[in-house]
Amino acid sequence: MADKPPVCDYEGSDYRTRFWEGQGRGYEDQVERVALRRLLPPTGRTLIEIGAGFGRLADEYLGYETVVLFDYSRSLLREAQAVWGHDPRFLFVAGNWYQMPFVSGLFDTMVQVRTLHHAADAPALFAQLARIARPGGRYVLEFANKQNVKAIGRYWLRRQSWSPFTLSPVEFVALNFDFHPRWIRQQLHAARFSPGRTLAVSYFRFAPLKRLLPTRLLVALDGMMQHTGRIAQLSPSVFVVSAHPTIGETAVSDATAVSNTFFACPLCQSPLGSAVNGRLHCPNSVCARQWQVDNGLYDFKEPFA
Ligand SMILES: C[S@@+](CC[C@H](N)C(=O)[O-])C[C@H]1O[C@@H](n2cnc3c(N)ncnc32)[C@H](O)[C@@H]1O
Ligand SMILES: [Zn+2]
Repeated sequence: MADKPPVCDYEGSDYRTRFWEGQGRGYEDQVERVALRRLLPPTGRTLIEIGAGFGRLADEYLGYETVVLFDYSRSLLREAQAVWGHDPRFLFVAGNWYQMPFVSGLFDTMVQVRTLHHAADAPALFAQLARIARPGGRYVLEFANKQNVKAIGRYWLRRQSWSPFTLSPVEFVALNFDFHPRWIRQQLHAARFSPGRTLAVSYFRFAPLKRLLPTRLLVALDGMMQHTGRIAQLSPSVFVVSAHPTIGETAVSDATAVSNTFFACPLCQSPLGSAVNGRLHCPNSVCARQWQVDNGLYDFKEPFA
Protein backbone atom coordinates (compact mmCIF):
# COMPACT_ATOMS: atom_id res chain seq x y z
CA MET A 1 0.00 0.00 0.00
CA ALA A 2 2.42 2.67 -1.21
CA ASP A 3 -0.15 5.47 -0.94
CA LYS A 4 -0.85 4.98 2.78
CA PRO A 5 -0.36 8.16 4.83
CA PRO A 6 2.90 8.24 6.84
CA VAL A 7 2.81 7.08 10.47
CA CYS A 8 4.59 8.62 13.45
CA ASP A 9 6.27 5.50 14.80
CA TYR A 10 6.55 5.14 18.61
CA GLU A 11 8.00 1.61 18.47
CA GLY A 12 10.54 1.30 21.29
CA SER A 13 9.74 4.82 22.50
CA ASP A 14 10.34 5.93 26.11
CA TYR A 15 7.20 8.11 25.88
CA ARG A 16 5.93 7.14 29.35
CA THR A 17 9.08 8.04 31.28
CA ARG A 18 10.21 10.90 29.01
CA PHE A 19 6.88 12.71 28.81
CA TRP A 20 4.76 11.69 31.80
CA GLU A 21 6.35 10.03 34.80
CA GLY A 22 8.06 12.60 37.03
CA GLN A 23 7.91 15.22 34.25
CA GLY A 24 5.62 17.73 36.00
CA ARG A 25 2.59 17.00 33.84
CA GLY A 26 0.14 16.13 36.61
CA TYR A 27 -1.95 19.17 35.63
CA GLU A 28 -2.26 18.09 31.98
CA ASP A 29 -3.11 14.50 32.95
CA GLN A 30 -5.76 15.56 35.46
CA VAL A 31 -7.53 18.16 33.31
CA GLU A 32 -7.74 15.64 30.48
CA ARG A 33 -9.40 13.18 32.85
CA VAL A 34 -11.88 15.85 34.00
CA ALA A 35 -12.84 16.51 30.37
CA LEU A 36 -12.98 12.81 29.51
CA ARG A 37 -15.30 12.05 32.45
CA ARG A 38 -17.61 14.83 31.33
CA LEU A 39 -17.97 13.46 27.81
CA LEU A 40 -17.50 9.69 28.10
CA PRO A 41 -20.58 7.49 28.56
CA PRO A 42 -19.51 5.80 31.85
CA THR A 43 -20.69 2.30 30.93
CA GLY A 44 -21.26 0.23 27.80
CA ARG A 45 -20.33 -2.92 25.93
CA THR A 46 -17.37 -2.10 23.71
CA LEU A 47 -14.90 0.77 23.94
CA ILE A 48 -11.79 1.40 21.86
CA GLU A 49 -9.05 3.89 22.58
CA ILE A 50 -7.28 4.70 19.34
CA GLY A 51 -3.61 5.49 19.95
CA ALA A 52 -3.83 4.29 23.54
CA GLY A 53 -0.04 4.24 23.95
CA PHE A 54 1.00 2.69 27.28
CA GLY A 55 -2.58 2.83 28.57
CA ARG A 56 -2.30 6.06 30.58
CA LEU A 57 -6.08 6.53 30.59
CA ALA A 58 -7.08 2.85 30.77
CA ASP A 59 -8.47 3.14 34.31
CA GLU A 60 -11.16 5.51 32.99
CA TYR A 61 -12.76 2.67 31.00
CA LEU A 62 -13.58 0.14 33.71
CA GLY A 63 -17.34 0.55 33.22
CA TYR A 64 -17.09 -1.27 29.85
CA GLU A 65 -17.41 -5.00 29.18
CA THR A 66 -14.66 -5.00 26.53
CA VAL A 67 -11.92 -2.39 26.21
CA VAL A 68 -9.61 -2.37 23.19
CA LEU A 69 -6.32 -0.54 23.61
CA PHE A 70 -5.28 0.04 20.00
CA ASP A 71 -1.91 1.47 18.97
CA TYR A 72 0.73 1.27 16.26
CA SER A 73 3.46 0.67 18.84
CA ARG A 74 3.77 -2.92 20.05
CA SER A 75 6.23 -1.88 22.76
CA LEU A 76 3.86 0.71 24.28
CA LEU A 77 1.04 -1.85 24.18
CA ARG A 78 3.30 -4.29 26.04
CA GLU A 79 3.68 -1.64 28.76
CA ALA A 80 -0.12 -1.36 28.95
CA GLN A 81 -0.38 -5.14 29.05
CA ALA A 82 2.06 -5.30 31.99
CA VAL A 83 -0.47 -3.29 34.00
CA TRP A 84 -3.82 -4.49 32.60
CA GLY A 85 -3.02 -7.90 31.09
CA HIS A 86 -4.59 -9.71 34.06
CA ASP A 87 -7.97 -8.03 33.45
CA PRO A 88 -10.11 -10.03 30.98
CA ARG A 89 -11.92 -6.88 29.87
CA PHE A 90 -8.82 -5.60 28.07
CA LEU A 91 -7.62 -6.48 24.56
CA PHE A 92 -4.30 -5.22 23.22
CA VAL A 93 -4.31 -4.65 19.48
CA ALA A 94 -1.47 -3.36 17.31
CA GLY A 95 -2.33 -1.82 13.96
CA ASN A 96 -2.61 1.28 11.85
CA TRP A 97 -5.63 3.55 12.30
CA TYR A 98 -5.92 3.95 8.52
CA GLN A 99 -6.68 0.20 8.29
CA MET A 100 -8.73 -0.68 11.35
CA PRO A 101 -8.82 -4.48 11.91
CA PHE A 102 -12.40 -4.65 13.20
CA VAL A 103 -15.78 -5.57 11.78
CA SER A 104 -18.12 -2.71 10.94
CA GLY A 105 -20.46 -1.23 13.54
CA LEU A 106 -18.58 -2.75 16.51
CA PHE A 107 -17.84 -0.01 19.04
CA ASP A 108 -20.26 1.77 21.35
CA THR A 109 -17.61 4.25 22.40
CA MET A 110 -14.43 5.44 20.71
CA VAL A 111 -11.82 7.64 22.38
CA GLN A 112 -8.85 9.48 20.97
CA VAL A 113 -6.63 11.68 23.16
CA ARG A 114 -3.29 13.28 22.20
CA THR A 115 -3.05 11.35 18.96
CA LEU A 116 -4.80 13.25 16.19
CA HIS A 117 -1.79 15.58 15.97
CA HIS A 118 0.01 12.65 14.29
CA ALA A 119 -2.68 12.20 11.63
CA ALA A 120 -1.45 13.37 8.23
CA ASP A 121 -4.84 12.37 6.83
CA ALA A 122 -7.51 13.01 9.49
CA PRO A 123 -10.43 12.59 7.02
CA ALA A 124 -9.19 9.07 6.13
CA LEU A 125 -8.98 8.23 9.83
CA PHE A 126 -12.50 9.57 10.51
CA ALA A 127 -13.83 7.45 7.62
CA GLN A 128 -12.36 4.33 9.24
CA LEU A 129 -13.87 5.27 12.59
CA ALA A 130 -17.30 5.87 11.04
CA ARG A 131 -17.14 2.32 9.70
CA ILE A 132 -16.40 0.65 13.06
CA ALA A 133 -18.77 2.89 15.08
CA ARG A 134 -21.96 1.30 16.37
CA PRO A 135 -24.97 3.51 15.61
CA GLY A 136 -26.17 5.23 18.78
CA GLY A 137 -22.66 5.39 20.27
CA ARG A 138 -20.24 8.23 20.96
CA TYR A 139 -16.79 9.31 19.77
CA VAL A 140 -14.76 11.43 22.21
CA LEU A 141 -11.95 13.22 20.40
CA GLU A 142 -9.20 15.43 21.80
CA PHE A 143 -7.15 17.46 19.36
CA ALA A 144 -4.39 20.09 19.43
CA ASN A 145 -5.95 23.47 18.66
CA LYS A 146 -4.09 25.80 16.27
CA GLN A 147 -6.31 28.74 17.30
CA ASN A 148 -4.97 28.96 20.88
CA VAL A 149 -4.10 32.10 22.87
CA LYS A 150 -0.33 31.54 22.64
CA ALA A 151 -0.39 30.95 18.87
CA ILE A 152 -2.56 34.05 18.36
CA GLY A 153 -0.16 36.18 20.47
CA ARG A 154 2.89 34.89 18.63
CA TYR A 155 1.22 35.50 15.27
CA TRP A 156 0.29 39.08 16.16
CA LEU A 157 3.85 39.71 17.43
CA ARG A 158 5.15 38.26 14.14
CA ARG A 159 7.01 35.49 15.94
CA GLN A 160 5.07 32.82 14.06
CA SER A 161 4.59 32.70 10.31
CA TRP A 162 1.40 30.62 10.10
CA SER A 163 -1.99 32.08 10.88
CA PRO A 164 -3.95 30.44 13.70
CA PHE A 165 -7.17 31.59 12.00
CA THR A 166 -6.96 29.69 8.70
CA LEU A 167 -8.91 26.43 8.65
CA SER A 168 -6.29 24.07 7.20
CA PRO A 169 -4.13 21.98 9.59
CA VAL A 170 -0.62 23.24 10.24
CA GLU A 171 2.33 20.83 10.39
CA PHE A 172 4.58 22.71 12.82
CA VAL A 173 7.08 19.81 13.08
CA ALA A 174 7.18 16.76 10.78
CA LEU A 175 4.08 14.61 11.46
CA ASN A 176 2.83 16.96 14.21
CA PHE A 177 -0.30 18.89 13.29
CA ASP A 178 -2.44 21.51 14.99
CA PHE A 179 -6.07 21.77 13.86
CA HIS A 180 -8.70 24.47 13.65
CA PRO A 181 -11.84 23.53 15.64
CA ARG A 182 -14.11 24.52 12.75
CA TRP A 183 -12.15 22.35 10.29
CA ILE A 184 -12.40 19.41 12.71
CA ARG A 185 -16.18 19.84 12.93
CA GLN A 186 -16.42 20.02 9.14
CA GLN A 187 -14.43 16.79 8.75
CA LEU A 188 -16.47 15.01 11.43
CA HIS A 189 -19.66 16.00 9.62
CA ALA A 190 -18.19 14.83 6.32
CA ALA A 191 -17.61 11.40 7.92
CA ARG A 192 -21.27 11.45 9.10
CA PHE A 193 -20.52 12.05 12.80
CA SER A 194 -22.59 14.66 14.64
CA PRO A 195 -20.21 16.75 16.78
CA GLY A 196 -21.76 18.17 19.95
CA ARG A 197 -20.52 19.27 23.36
CA THR A 198 -17.09 20.88 23.16
CA LEU A 199 -14.68 21.64 26.03
CA ALA A 200 -11.71 24.04 25.98
CA VAL A 201 -8.98 22.31 27.99
CA SER A 202 -5.51 22.99 29.43
CA TYR A 203 -5.58 26.81 29.46
CA PHE A 204 -2.93 26.88 32.24
CA ARG A 205 -0.35 24.75 30.43
CA PHE A 206 2.38 27.27 31.26
CA ALA A 207 5.45 26.17 33.28
CA PRO A 208 5.87 29.30 35.53
CA LEU A 209 2.16 29.17 36.44
CA LYS A 210 2.38 25.48 37.21
CA ARG A 211 5.37 26.13 39.49
CA LEU A 212 3.59 29.01 41.25
CA LEU A 213 0.15 27.54 41.91
CA PRO A 214 -0.85 24.18 43.38
CA THR A 215 -1.93 21.62 40.76
CA ARG A 216 -5.23 21.12 42.60
CA LEU A 217 -6.13 24.78 42.19
CA LEU A 218 -5.17 24.89 38.51
CA VAL A 219 -7.19 21.74 37.81
CA ALA A 220 -10.24 23.24 39.57
CA LEU A 221 -9.90 26.49 37.59
CA ASP A 222 -9.44 24.60 34.34
CA GLY A 223 -12.49 22.51 35.15
CA MET A 224 -14.55 25.71 35.25
CA MET A 225 -12.91 27.19 32.14
CA GLN A 226 -13.58 24.03 30.12
CA HIS A 227 -17.24 25.03 29.79
CA THR A 228 -16.25 28.12 27.78
CA GLY A 229 -15.62 25.70 24.92
CA ARG A 230 -19.33 25.94 24.19
CA ILE A 231 -18.77 29.51 22.94
CA ALA A 232 -15.11 29.70 21.86
CA GLN A 233 -12.07 27.45 21.87
CA LEU A 234 -8.82 29.30 22.50
CA SER A 235 -7.09 26.64 24.60
CA PRO A 236 -4.23 24.40 23.37
CA SER A 237 -6.39 21.31 23.73
CA VAL A 238 -10.02 20.79 22.72
CA PHE A 239 -12.33 17.87 23.51
CA VAL A 240 -15.42 17.23 21.39
CA VAL A 241 -17.95 14.43 21.68
CA SER A 242 -19.77 13.31 18.53
CA ALA A 243 -22.75 11.04 18.03
CA HIS A 244 -21.91 8.13 15.75
CA PRO A 245 -23.40 7.94 12.26
CA THR A 246 -26.95 6.68 12.59
CA ILE A 247 -28.52 3.58 11.03
CA GLY A 248 -29.45 4.32 7.46
CA GLU A 249 -26.63 6.80 7.03
CA THR A 250 -23.94 4.29 7.79
CA ALA A 251 -22.55 2.30 4.92
CA VAL A 252 -21.92 -0.71 7.15
CA SER A 253 -23.87 -3.89 7.33
CA ASP A 254 -24.73 -3.87 11.00
CA ALA A 255 -25.04 -7.64 10.73
CA THR A 256 -21.26 -8.02 10.86
CA ALA A 257 -21.12 -6.65 14.39
CA VAL A 258 -23.95 -8.81 15.67
CA SER A 259 -22.84 -12.04 14.08
CA ASN A 260 -20.31 -12.66 16.85
CA THR A 261 -17.26 -11.66 14.88
CA PHE A 262 -14.93 -8.99 16.17
CA PHE A 263 -11.76 -8.68 14.13
CA ALA A 264 -11.64 -8.10 10.38
CA CYS A 265 -8.72 -8.38 8.01
CA PRO A 266 -7.18 -4.88 7.82
CA LEU A 267 -6.38 -5.41 4.14
CA CYS A 268 -9.66 -6.75 2.74
CA GLN A 269 -12.06 -6.29 5.71
CA SER A 270 -13.29 -9.90 5.68
CA PRO A 271 -14.52 -10.85 9.18
CA LEU A 272 -12.02 -13.14 10.94
CA GLY A 273 -12.90 -16.20 13.02
CA SER A 274 -11.18 -17.23 16.24
CA ALA A 275 -7.42 -17.68 16.42
CA VAL A 276 -6.03 -21.11 15.59
CA ASN A 277 -2.53 -21.86 16.90
CA GLY A 278 -1.98 -18.18 17.60
CA ARG A 279 -3.05 -17.02 14.12
CA LEU A 280 -6.12 -15.42 12.63
CA HIS A 281 -6.70 -16.56 9.07
CA CYS A 282 -8.29 -14.29 6.47
CA PRO A 283 -10.99 -16.43 4.80
CA ASN A 284 -10.87 -14.43 1.56
CA SER A 285 -9.00 -16.73 -0.83
CA VAL A 286 -7.63 -13.79 -2.84
CA CYS A 287 -6.16 -12.18 0.30
CA ALA A 288 -5.50 -15.23 2.54
CA ARG A 289 -3.27 -13.31 4.96
CA GLN A 290 -2.56 -14.58 8.47
CA TRP A 291 -2.31 -12.34 11.52
CA GLN A 292 -0.46 -13.23 14.67
CA VAL A 293 -1.65 -13.29 18.27
CA ASP A 294 1.58 -13.16 20.24
CA ASN A 295 1.34 -13.52 24.03
CA GLY A 296 -2.01 -11.78 24.20
CA LEU A 297 -1.14 -9.07 21.65
CA TYR A 298 -3.21 -9.09 18.45
CA ASP A 299 -0.79 -7.93 15.79
CA PHE A 300 -2.23 -6.37 12.61
CA LYS A 301 0.78 -4.21 11.74
CA GLU A 302 2.08 -6.70 9.21
CA PRO A 303 0.73 -10.05 8.05
CA PHE A 304 2.46 -13.06 9.57
CA ALA A 305 2.13 -14.81 6.25
C1 LIG B 1 1.46 11.15 22.09
S1 LIG B 1 1.04 9.44 22.15
C2 LIG B 1 -0.48 9.45 23.11
C3 LIG B 1 -0.77 8.17 23.83
C4 LIG B 1 -2.03 8.20 24.71
N1 LIG B 1 -3.23 8.53 23.95
C5 LIG B 1 -1.86 9.16 25.85
O1 LIG B 1 -2.50 10.23 25.84
O2 LIG B 1 -1.07 8.87 26.77
C6 LIG B 1 0.47 9.16 20.47
C7 LIG B 1 0.14 7.70 20.18
O3 LIG B 1 -0.46 7.60 18.89
C8 LIG B 1 -0.02 6.39 18.30
N2 LIG B 1 -0.18 6.46 16.83
C9 LIG B 1 0.38 7.35 15.98
N3 LIG B 1 0.03 7.07 14.70
C10 LIG B 1 -0.76 5.96 14.74
C11 LIG B 1 -1.41 5.19 13.73
N4 LIG B 1 -1.34 5.49 12.43
N5 LIG B 1 -2.15 4.12 14.13
C12 LIG B 1 -2.25 3.79 15.45
N6 LIG B 1 -1.63 4.49 16.46
C13 LIG B 1 -0.89 5.57 16.10
C14 LIG B 1 1.43 6.30 18.72
O4 LIG B 1 1.95 4.99 18.59
C15 LIG B 1 1.37 6.81 20.17
O5 LIG B 1 1.22 5.76 21.09
ZN1 LIG C 1 -7.85 -10.32 3.97
